[in-house]
Amino acid sequence: MLKIWAMSDIQALKTEITDEIEAATDLQKLEDVRVTVLGKKGRITALMKTLGKMDPEERKTKGQALNVLKDEIALLIKTQEAALKKQEMAERLATETMDISLPPREERKGRVHPISQTIEELVTIFASMGFKVAEGPDIEDDWHNFTALNFPPGHPAREMQDTFFLPEDEREEGERAKKLLRTHTSSVQIRHMQENQPPIKTICFGRTYRSDYDMTHTPMFHQMECLYIDKDVTMAHLKGCLTDFVRAFFGLDDLPVRFRPSFFPFVEPGAEVDIGYTKKADGSIKLGKAPEGEEQKWMEILGSGMVHPNVLKNCGIDPEEYQGFAFGTGIERLAMLKYGIPDLRTFFECDVRWLAHYGFDPLDRPNSATGQ
Ligand code: PHE
Repeated sequence: MLKIWAMSDIQALKTEITDEIEAATDLQKLEDVRVTVLGKKGRITALMKTLGKMDPEERKTKGQALNVLKDEIALLIKTQEAALKKQEMAERLATETMDISLPPREERKGRVHPISQTIEELVTIFASMGFKVAEGPDIEDDWHNFTALNFPPGHPAREMQDTFFLPEDEREEGERAKKLLRTHTSSVQIRHMQENQPPIKTICFGRTYRSDYDMTHTPMFHQMECLYIDKDVTMAHLKGCLTDFVRAFFGLDDLPVRFRPSFFPFVEPGAEVDIGYTKKADGSIKLGKAPEGEEQKWMEILGSGMVHPNVLKNCGIDPEEYQGFAFGTGIERLAMLKYGIPDLRTFFECDVRWLAHYGFDPLDRPNSATGQ
C-alpha cells in the first residue's frame, strides 16, 4: 500500500487501471477489476484511507484528486460494461437460433378436490348467514368426544360409532387420558363453548374417524358441524337455517326438506333431516320435488337438534339463559349427491384421472375473484 504518495502517482494509477479495464474482455473480468480498484480493499479505497493522516491543506487537494479519479474510473467501468454487454448480445444473436415452429409445451393445471370445493361452497353459504369457522383437534379424549356430549359412561350410545381408541395418555387422568380419533366434529362444539361465551355462531370442518369400510363408508371422512347458541333460539331457527342451507347448497329453491324425530344424546329434541328426490328410469337419482304422479323419495343427509341442557352445563353455559341448535353432516355425502360421485372410497384413492373428471378448475372457485 502507498503510504505517502504524490499527485503524479494518481496519474500513473489512472493509466494502470484504464489499461486493466480495457483489457477486461468479459463481464466477470471487468467485475474483478472493479473489486481490486473500488472494492473494500481496492486500490483507490486504500488511498482514501491515507487522507485522514494528512494535514488539512494536503488532504483537500489530494482528496479532490482522488474523488475525480474515482468518478472517472467508475465511468470507464460503466462504459466498458455497456460495450461488453452489447458484444455479448451480438454474439448470442449470431450463434443462437430459435425454432419458432415448435409447438408450446402444454401447461398442466391442477384440479381442486371435490372435498375442498364443497367446503368452500359451505363456507360461502354460512359466512353469508354470519357464521365463523372454528377448529379442533383430530385426536380427542373420551370426555370431549363422548362424556361432555351427554353420552353417559358405559351407555350403549357410545357404540353408535365404531371408535378407534389410542393408547392411554399417562400424563392425564380418567376420561381425559383415554385418547381416541374423534368420531364426529361435535367435539369441536364442546371446545368452542368452553372457550367462548354466547352468542356463538360457528361452523367447523374436519376429518372424523370410524372403523367402517364399504361403498358408502370409509375409516376417515369429513364432517361439518354447525352451532348456534344465544338467548331465545328455537327449533324454528334450526328449521329455517337448515332449509335455507340445503336449498342454497343444492341450488334448488323448492327442494323438499323433511325433519324426522331422532336420537342423539347431545340434543333434545333431535331430528334427522331428509331431502326429497325421485328415481330416474336408469336408476339414477334426481334431487327435487316429485312431479305429479311420481313417487317422492327421501334420503337422510344430516343429524340435528336443540343442544341438550346437560351439554351447555358441561361447558359452563347456563341453560336457563341460553339455548341453541346444532347439526352435523358428512361433507363427502353432500359432494356425492351434488356432483353425482357414486363411490365414497374413490375420494381417497388419489387417482389423478378421477380428479381430472370430478375435480374443479382452480380459477373458477366459489370464493375466487373469477368465480360466481
Ligand atoms: N354428531 C352427529 C353424527 O356424527 C351429528 C349431529 C351433530 C347430530 C349435531 C345432532 C347435532 O352423526
